[in-house]
Amino acid sequence: MANQGVDRGRRRFLVAATSVVGGAGVVALATPLLVSWKPSARAEAAGAPVEVNVAQIEPGQRISVGWRGRPIWIVRRTPEMLELLPEIRDRLRDPDSEEVTQQPDYARNPHRSIRAELLVLVGICTHLGCSPAFRPEIGVADIGADWPGGWLCACHGSRFDMAGRVYRNVPAALNLEVPPYRFVNDDLIIVGEHADGGTA
Ligand code: FES
Repeated sequence: MANQGVDRGRRRFLVAATSVVGGAGVVALATPLLVSWKPSARAEAAGAPVEVNVAQIEPGQRISVGWRGRPIWIVRRTPEMLELLPEIRDRLRDPDSEEVTQQPDYARNPHRSIRAELLVLVGICTHLGCSPAFRPEIGVADIGADWPGGWLCACHGSRFDMAGRVYRNVPAALNLEVPPYRFVNDDLIIVGEHADGGTA
């Protein structure tokens, strides 16, 4: 498999990094990033766009915010994560995001995002709606030596890569959805507004 070529040094680095940031991500959910949310919870529940400060997301880290009652995941991908995306395309059902319902046009590219490093996804499995687990570690024993990092849905075993693209031969048929979003500046995104400023 392509990712079996990942050298052990890189693997150690990524496992160490993701182990650390996995813990940090939990902290981040509870503290500074929550206070960056706008607007109010009432407005959010009604479907208003949500501002998110992404400056504090470390490489390899994922945060989760809410929009329209759904979890929105934001990941700052590392260069190593981005390098692996083209290497596993043969294992994916829709590697080129041909199913247009699953992302806006501006995220229909090899990294499925406006800026390559910052991935924004709806955190709901496209099979029956569970929330898949973030598993960015490469080659972990409980998933497999050829695992390049991504999401694993515990409900029925669907797998998604670090762009939210679904694997072949799993129950889910579609890539994870990319919500509408746009950058206000390098530090701030708005989930729920399109890159051209239109509201979803
Ligand atoms: S809900 Fe995720 S695999 Fe069934």
